[in-house]
Amino acid sequence: MANVVVVGAQWGDEGKGKIVDWLSERADVIARFQGGHNAGHTLVIGETVYKLSLLPSGIVRPGKLAVIGNGVVLDPWALFSEIDKLAGQGVQIGTDNLMIAENTPLILPLHQDLDRLREEAAGKAKIGTTGRGIGPAYEDKVGRRTIRVADLGDEETLDARLDRLLAHHDPLRAGLGATPIDRAELRAKLLEIAPKLLPYAQPVWRIMADARKAGKRILFEGAQGSLLDIDFGTYPYVTSSTTMSGMAASGTGLGPGAIGFVLGIVKAYTTRVGEGPFPTELHDADGQRLGERGHEFGTVTGRKRRCGWFDAVLVRQTCAISGVNGIALTKLDVLDGFKTLRICTGYEIDGTHYDYLPTAAALQAKVTPVYEEMPGWSESTAGARSWADLPAEAIKYVRRIEELIQCPVALLSTSPERDDTILVTDPFAD
Ligand code: GDP
Ligand code: IMO
Ligand code: MG
Repeated sequence: MANVVVVGAQWGDEGKGKIVDWLSERADVIARFQGGHNAGHTLVIGETVYKLSLLPSGIVRPGKLAVIGNGVVLDPWALFSEIDKLAGQGVQIGTDNLMIAENTPLILPLHQDLDRLREEAAGKAKIGTTGRGIGPAYEDKVGRRTIRVADLGDEETLDARLDRLLAHHDPLRAGLGATPIDRAELRAKLLEIAPKLLPYAQPVWRIMADARKAGKRILFEGAQGSLLDIDFGTYPYVTSSTTMSGMAASGTGLGPGAIGFVLGIVKAYTTRVGEGPFPTELHDADGQRLGERGHEFGTVTGRKRRCGWFDAVLVRQTCAISGVNGIALTKLDVLDGFKTLRICTGYEIDGTHYDYLPTAAALQAKVTPVYEEMPGWSESTAGARSWADLPAEAIKYVRRIEELIQCPVALLSTSPERDDTILVTDPFAD
């Protein structure tokens, strides 16, 4: 059985939510394995628009099991507000269709404080985080002082965890000019949410193993994008988790052999939210047009996304690192009406040609993209549901991308709507 991992192959917001929702029809279990509510995934199904941050995008389909794995950092208050919002849209979520790994670390209000305080203190050197406390929560996990879901079940354990956590945070806060944590208030908040959260807590590793044995199809839903990866992204302008495909295994507790197909989600141009290098960024009318036609505003923070031409160098690199077997190319329709399109095929740095993005920040700062031009198309591709509906120039553009990134297109998306999707190769096929 080919279980599928979906990862963003650029800087996030590639359209993962739409594609995961579409693929969920063929899956039994949909699992998030990293990130937290810094993600914003938009699904459009007829007249209804769902915006998900923490819940796997498969949750909107009845009869599917949604799983939040240990690789995620979980803000329990954000979780229940998302569950309530979805209930208002008619999506029923309970312990029969949502399970959360017992060993998932929590995001607490003190993590959000620290995220904000650090960004403020950094001034111009800020990362441009979503302010959700993601980085500080992962730091505490790795620092062995976090509170995990299962800790909420026993007051003595919780007290010990709080002691360890506050022994770190209070001095840190003092250094940043903030007040100490009100321990009693935080403890009471946690004990209040515990009876709501604990019924969802499960040994997810075992549920995944059983699902695999039973021949169930598992869809792993990545958040963020490969260029925001903590190791391989444009460090330090990255998120604090591993966003590459390998994380699907360790972020849920299933061996890597369970992964059959890695699907990279790729936008037909490039966007990025927050600070950091962006070789093909446009500051002209073309960039503005991409932003307007693509509605490039962040789902989580509402920030304007920076826009630029398709960068084949970066996508070739991230597809190699994640072992991408095929891509879903999204938002092709946004390019309708451009007279000429540009694709970045390499970089010049100090007179030397590069076919990859080097790690050194000093080199990244000096990158000049090398472009190749392609004719655009005047016809509309919006809503196209077969290759036959695409103009010849659009097909040439897609084929050229495949060639440059050395990876085939498995799916093509031509509008936000669930069914405006062209299937070329079924990722779930053996
Ligand atoms: P994600 O974070 O990767 O799930 O992506 P987001 O949901 O944050 O951003 C993608 C945006 O593009 C959403 O508003 C989607 O509804 C929209 N979208 C997805 N696929 C397409 C497409 O093929 N064409 C157009 N025009 N919009 C799309
Ligand atoms: P989805 O899943 C785009 C960016 C932030 C910031 C950096 C670090 O919707 O694709 P963080 O809050 O994670 O510490 O912020 O990462 N970022 C995203 N950009 N899409 C996302 O998620 C993102 N999640 C984080 O803008 O630059
Ligand atoms: Mg998004």
